[in-house]
Amino acid sequence: MTTDELYNRLKSIQPGAVLCTYTKEKCEQMLPLINEINERKKDQDTVILAHSYVAPEIILGVADYNGDSFKLSEDATKVTQKTILFSAVRFMGETAKILNPEKDVLIPGPLTGCSLADSITGEEVRELRKKYPEHTFVCYINTTADVKAACDVCVTSGNVMKIIERLPTDKIVFVPDRLMGQNIQADLDKRGIKKEIVLHNGCCYVHETYDSELIDFFRSQNPGLKVVSHPECHPGVALLSDYVGSTGQMVNYIKEQPDETPFLLLTECGLNARMQYEHPKKRFIGSCSMCKYMKSNSLENILETLRHPEKAEHVELDESVRVAAKKCIDAMFYYAK
Ligand code: 13P
Ligand code: SF4
Repeated sequence: MTTDELYNRLKSIQPGAVLCTYTKEKCEQMLPLINEINERKKDQDTVILAHSYVAPEIILGVADYNGDSFKLSEDATKVTQKTILFSAVRFMGETAKILNPEKDVLIPGPLTGCSLADSITGEEVRELRKKYPEHTFVCYINTTADVKAACDVCVTSGNVMKIIERLPTDKIVFVPDRLMGQNIQADLDKRGIKKEIVLHNGCCYVHETYDSELIDFFRSQNPGLKVVSHPECHPGVALLSDYVGSTGQMVNYIKEQPDETPFLLLTECGLNARMQYEHPKKRFIGSCSMCKYMKSNSLENILETLRHPEKAEHVELDESVRVAAKKCIDAMFYYAK
């Protein structure tokens, strides 16, 4: 890749933050890192999967696969390389390892957590199971392997409504996202489906910041505005949105709208940047809410991990936990079909 090629792909991104402003000089500085990472990928039989929230230079410069957590977990089952470097957060790397135990899965970055995944442990789920012995335990994919191992079915933001509806039970404990749980309940109520959903109190610290006043303000300023939000947002936000879905579903929705449409994307700013370079004729307002965990991925730490992977950067799972967690994910593939 040349500097001009890289610059041509990045130059249409114009959010306010300095972090997301690309100049030719910046591309020139990044290029040696990008080229070395791409060389090493080949030499070290490594594939890079990147979530849409990581920095655009990772997605456009070095990633082989990009998407939402469900798509990436499916991609992870199809790759032929012996090593998967997951540029995202730890729970996504764990999901790749659960599905591909024979692969070496690497996660770079100093902050690999997630406010949702960190809000509950497997031990807490096992305690809850004693309190709700009759309930089916459903976990969001944003959980550790240990939590998945303690639950019955996993869901993603893209398939949660379908799976909850299809589950042959009306007693569900949903962990850990309280707001997503409230969105599920609202959706079931709207469709007249009676199910009791017991909620935990986890939250995504990025998505919980959006509120209906923000939507009202931007709507008043932008006629024809399409508001697109993630199910990790408040139910009040979901109610006022034109579309609610996973990051992958948002991408598809935006693609189908006419050019010149203004959008307010209520999700992490990386998706906004991705949409700006994929749809230069559409208008994207906000969002500049940044996930510190996703944004702690950088070309520098990806390269460092490829050069000298630290022990903590290899995902290692206890085999009994992995097998139990895989059962929970397999149940998701079964109900999502
Ligand atoms: P998606 O599955 O929609 O990509 O969401 C993952 C996530 O972490 C949202 O905050
Ligand atoms: Fe977790 Fe929220 Fe970051 Fe997604 S955006 S990885 S849910 S903290």
